[in-house]
Amino acid sequence: MKILVTGGAGYIGSHTCVELLNENHEVVVLDNLSNSSEESLTRVKKITGKSLEFYKADLLNKKQVDAVFLEHKIDAVIHFAGLKAVGESVSIPLKYFHNNITGTLNLLCAMNEANVKNIIFSSSATVYGDPLSLPIKEDFPLSATNPYGRTKLMIEEILQDLYRSDKNWNIALLRYFNPVGAHKSGEIGEDPFGIPNNLVPYISKVAVGFLPRLNVFGNDYNTPDGTGVRDFIHVVDLALGHIRTLPKLFTNPGIVIYNLGTGTGFSVLEMIKGFETASGKKIPYKIADRRPGDIAACWADPAKAKDELGWEAKKTLDDMCKDTWNWQNKNPNGYR
Ligand code: NAD
Ligand code: UFG
Repeated sequence: MKILVTGGAGYIGSHTCVELLNENHEVVVLDNLSNSSEESLTRVKKITGKSLEFYKADLLNKKQVDAVFLEHKIDAVIHFAGLKAVGESVSIPLKYFHNNITGTLNLLCAMNEANVKNIIFSSSATVYGDPLSLPIKEDFPLSATNPYGRTKLMIEEILQDLYRSDKNWNIALLRYFNPVGAHKSGEIGEDPFGIPNNLVPYISKVAVGFLPRLNVFGNDYNTPDGTGVRDFIHVVDLALGHIRTLPKLFTNPGIVIYNLGTGTGFSVLEMIKGFETASGKKIPYKIADRRPGDIAACWADPAKAKDELGWEAKKTLDDMCKDTWNWQNKNPNGYR
């Protein structure tokens, strides 16, 4: 199949391109490189020994999006492109609404015009807000606590409306828990610009000596060790979740929703310990105030994806830490 991957140069997108090429799909990437580097795609080609087509294009420019559909007969779209920094979305919400919502509308209109009606959308566990109980199932109530999360919820609703209006659409909403890790080759990985917001990239910058210590945001949560608990999932498992979802789209399922998580939560302190073991580096940390907007704990019930897609996460916390460290150690400055 020929798959258009928006945001394919980014963290999850690049890992998904590797798995798509490994499965002999043809890959077309559309990315404006606003949060990524074309080098990631060079590395994807190196890992797989296969080629892909790259368009440096912006979803906000409808003509650029149309051009891709004119030049290629696309079978399905995997839509990763979007801005994702929660804190930044609070200070510049209009940029987030414009980029994520308008960008998605341009993509959907272009798809509609080209009669391409199969799409996988990158949603997030953030749409569950602060869950009433754990583990989280797909039918739990939804809410948003910040503009980034609201863009995910709004896009899910737009896609639901689109399907209601035209039953020829096949749409998978994949709600990711906390993606971490890197390809085992160490060629591709997460490469945040500036100081990382998320836990694992921050720990790995401490391990490589670029940051002096980690701030642990709160140790007074109602969790076993008082620190936040999350469902960390290896990015390669996550990428494979997309590969398993693709055939589902071609059974005309309508709109389907899956949690992509491991089903197990680890705390911030457990993650620090795991990283220390995997890297052999000490991670200095200090306990800081809670980060506004954070929840105590979050993990998935991934049973639906296992039952309906035959997918489950296989990699361990040790794999996540070892592979992150291998990438960071081989590429201290990321792709630069
Ligand atoms: P990323 O920033 O590494 O990748 C996103 C890519 O989209 C980047 O390469 C960026 O340049 C591109 N992009 C952004 N706006 C664009 C536009 N207007 N036109 C074209 N390209 C554009 O992020 P990621 O971690 O790979 O996340 C991929 C998707 O998964 C995002 O939609 C994100 O919201 C979602 N998600 C991520 C996480 C996470 O923790 N990483 C969790 C849940 C959901
Ligand atoms: N944390 C620290 N110190 C840091 C960074 C994080 O202690 O420097 C803690 C947080 O307080 C939280 C845990 O580590 O308890 C995980 O935080 P992350 O920022 O890594 O991840 P979040 O769960 O807050 O959010 C991430 C993405 C969201 C996405 C969500 C679910 O940033 O966009 O996972 O997929 F919605």
